[in-house]
Amino acid sequence: MNRILRNLGRCLPARWRQRLKRGLLLRCPSLYATQYIRYEQGLTCEEEVQALLSKLDATLGVPGDVIECGCFLCGTTYQMARHLQRRGSGKRIYACDTFRGFDPAEFAREIRRGHAGQDRDFAENDFSYVRRKIERLGVSQRISLVQGLFQETLASLPGPFAFAFIDCDLHDSMLYAARAIWPRLSPGGCCVFDDYTNERFRGATKAVEVFLAEQGHTIADHGPLLHKMYFAHKAAR
Ligand SMILES: C[S@@+](CC[C@H](N)C(=O)[O-])C[C@H]1O[C@@H](n2cnc3c(N)ncnc32)[C@H](O)[C@@H]1O
Repeated sequence: MNRILRNLGRCLPARWRQRLKRGLLLRCPSLYATQYIRYEQGLTCEEEVQALLSKLDATLGVPGDVIECGCFLCGTTYQMARHLQRRGSGKRIYACDTFRGFDPAEFAREIRRGHAGQDRDFAENDFSYVRRKIERLGVSQRISLVQGLFQETLASLPGPFAFAFIDCDLHDSMLYAARAIWPRLSPGGCCVFDDYTNERFRGATKAVEVFLAEQGHTIADHGPLLHKMYFAHKAAR
């Protein structure tokens, strides 16, 4: 479908093409399941999604909800919500994002440090589109959209959490999110970090390493998950 829209809309500005595509998806939500759209998830392949869901599965009996720091268009959030539904779990997902892309000052800092390329800042997001999308996909009762910088929103979220997925690419935000969530992660809970081995976001690797050095004594087991992800299980008491 992307190809058809690309050809149809070649003469339209990118913003209009995007509007056209999102309008079409909201009208025909079954298109989200196609291989071209894949729910607009950031994870690159089915194996990666399954690896994440297997870690989510391992925490279904752990008290607390699920939190995703950096959810963009809620593609992966949807996969987790659907999985929880299939498992009959009552857990809620807090999907946290600016819904406007990176904080420009932080992104500029990362580029200066040589931690990130300049190719993508996720600014093409749109809160009202994401809200309508999760409604159309039937998961809005389970997902709480939390809009704003983590530095302004995470402290006021209820917790505890059983599972956290931190996928925000940039060093300072990743470390902030990990430090804010870990103390509220239940014993036996799991935190998955995306982009640990992603060459395009070396700040993510550094943030995970700093976090591990700080929290090593509270971690039961940890390591590379699959592709570019990393996981850490909190020691059970
Ligand atoms: C790679 S995308 C997330 C992809 C998503 N997890 C998925 O799998 O589809 C990174 C997101 O992190 C968000 N982000 C980065 N730093 C943030 C911060 N400090 N506060 C809120 N959102 C942030 C960006 O807005 C962007 O949407």
